Amino acid sequence: MNRKTTGSMLLALAAIALGAAACNSLPVPDPDPEAETKGTMTVNMSDTLKISDTMFGIFFEDINYGADGGLYAELVANRDFECTPADAGGWNAKTFWTVDGQGMKFDIATTDPIHANNPHYGVISVDAVGPRLVNVGFDGFRYEKGAKYDFSMFARQQGDTPVKIEVGLLSDTGDVLDSKTIDVKSKTWDKLSVVLTASNGNSAADACGKFYLKPLTANAAAAVDMVSLFPQDTFMGRKNGLRKDLAQTLADLKPQFVRFPGGCVAHGNSWQDDCYYWKDSVGALEERKPIKNRWGYHQTRGLGYFEYMQFCEDIGAYALPIITVGVDCQFAGRQQAVPMDQMDRIVQDAVDLVEFANGDTSTKWGALRAKMGHPKPFGLKYIGLGNEEQISSAFEVRFKMVNDALKAKHPEIVVVGTVGPGADGGDFDEGWKFARQENVPIVDEHFYRDPNWFVNSAQHRYDNYDRKGPKVYAGEYAAHARGNPRPNTIETALDEAIFLTGVERNGDVVLMSSYAPLLGKHGHMQWTPNMIYFSNTKIDKTTTYEVQKLFGTNAGTDYIRNTLDFGNALDRRQALRVAASAVRTDDGDVVLKYVNTLDRPVSVTVTLDNAKGIPASAERTVLTGPTFTGKDYSLTHNYIRLGEKFVVNLPANTMTVIRF
Ligand code: AHR
Repeated sequence: MNRKTTGSMLLALAAIALGAAACNSLPVPDPDPEAETKGTMTVNMSDTLKISDTMFGIFFEDINYGADGGLYAELVANRDFECTPADAGGWNAKTFWTVDGQGMKFDIATTDPIHANNPHYGVISVDAVGPRLVNVGFDGFRYEKGAKYDFSMFARQQGDTPVKIEVGLLSDTGDVLDSKTIDVKSKTWDKLSVVLTASNGNSAADACGKFYLKPLTANAAAAVDMVSLFPQDTFMGRKNGLRKDLAQTLADLKPQFVRFPGGCVAHGNSWQDDCYYWKDSVGALEERKPIKNRWGYHQTRGLGYFEYMQFCEDIGAYALPIITVGVDCQFAGRQQAVPMDQMDRIVQDAVDLVEFANGDTSTKWGALRAKMGHPKPFGLKYIGLGNEEQISSAFEVRFKMVNDALKAKHPEIVVVGTVGPGADGGDFDEGWKFARQENVPIVDEHFYRDPNWFVNSAQHRYDNYDRKGPKVYAGEYAAHARGNPRPNTIETALDEAIFLTGVERNGDVVLMSSYAPLLGKHGHMQWTPNMIYFSNTKIDKTTTYEVQKLFGTNAGTDYIRNTLDFGNALDRRQALRVAASAVRTDDGDVVLKYVNTLDRPVSVTVTLDNAKGIPASAERTVLTGPTFTGKDYSLTHNYIRLGEKFVVNLPANTMTVIRF
């Protein structure tokens, strides 16, 4: 894990920050003007509770083009010619490819493919030099001026004549930004690579560049497959890596863990069809098994388990893979399960996953990890078994088989169970009963509910949870306001923030949380709201993103017990709309978080009991927006005067973070 490195770097930075505070170099502002509605908060600095170091994570699922066409930096769409009508209506092996010009033959063939997992490939030939096979990408290709792109493809000549092919980048207006010639001169599959440099970037706001293959030899055919174009400038410069700006946006959240590959993608609609078996997502790209995405498009799985774990390591987050226990998605219309006489595969997959992630390089799966470029173990600690399946006896018996095998072979792994898709109800109750019976360490609760529910119910949901049973992972949640698409607004984000103050307060029992879903590509949404929206050129952070970032970058190791009291100034329902939490971070900082979703400002007189060395001022960040139900927002940073007693003014509809 990179956690240690990241931790010590943060400590170093924090030491500088603390030094600055001790020297009183922060400006000391005038005290805040007090609001009419007043409350008090007592923070007992010596009364603390150890809380989880995995509290704020991210939920990554290939939904809304989150992976292919999204986080995965591959620019060529349908690079493997494996798109089918099962992926999406009207799709086939030629989708995303077009012929530009007259006299080109472009066929799909299946004889002697590169690999059985990748049975289709393209065959191109021309009567005379001129026409090109063009890939339109995922809504076009984004090119940056001067940037280098790694082109590669598998190719073979289909007859006795070698074929020269020009490969090139096309601008938004059809100009060639760079081209190179490659020779297809083998009768067996050969991997050909070349680097292209864009002489210019896109001119259109929404990049609509293209990419082409142009045969330069007439009357000779070439077979092509795994046609790939990657920017060299990926996140952390990884080959087969992630789109830099998107991955950085995720890294900026400082997630303590990353859940993948779903969500419903983890089990698909059917164990026979679109279930995500992790072994099909590792090894050489051309040998991975593309599958239809459960959300209705093609999944290459170029972003597979290795790349997910590499990303986790790169950002200092724990990996939380969710694997199937052999039971279909309960929303598939019927529940089917892997027959008992085929469960060996499911059980073995779970056990082998630990070997792949952590095993010695002398083991089969550890050796594959090493071959893929990571001889050192990834340090996998958590595995989720199942995703909100119906908690039927078919589920329970299969869960137990996988769980028992993991416990026997890898007792060091912390298993995360599932308790259905809702915050209550049949699956929830049965799931919890079963989890207690099986001593499952953590269970995954899901709730997509209206914003008020987060204030009135979720905020105090965990205050009285049993501390002795399984712990909680609030694994999928989001406040769903009315609308089509459902919007992310100041209201939804602040109501989620109120819930998260409750998560921090109960950080001894709620060990993990993640908002869902994470990514949504404009024009390709199966689900709203999402935390981050994007196109090929743009990233739109939402109010929810900013709340998640305020919690993630200000996560604590200890909760500092406190009381917030408005006496008669607010009635019970109003008081629920103002929430606070206090934590101490791993570098010794104190962070106070406040959310006020009343339509008026309130002032809180804060008393720091048993405090030592309080600096004269603290940094204050305020998130708000012009309207409660709008999606626009602003973040302001300034300072607040501190003391053993000080006043915090909380404007209407704001989240405020004070750190010292
Ligand atoms: O987050 C979107 C979907 O919601 C997930 O795939 C699924 O687990 C849940 O129903």
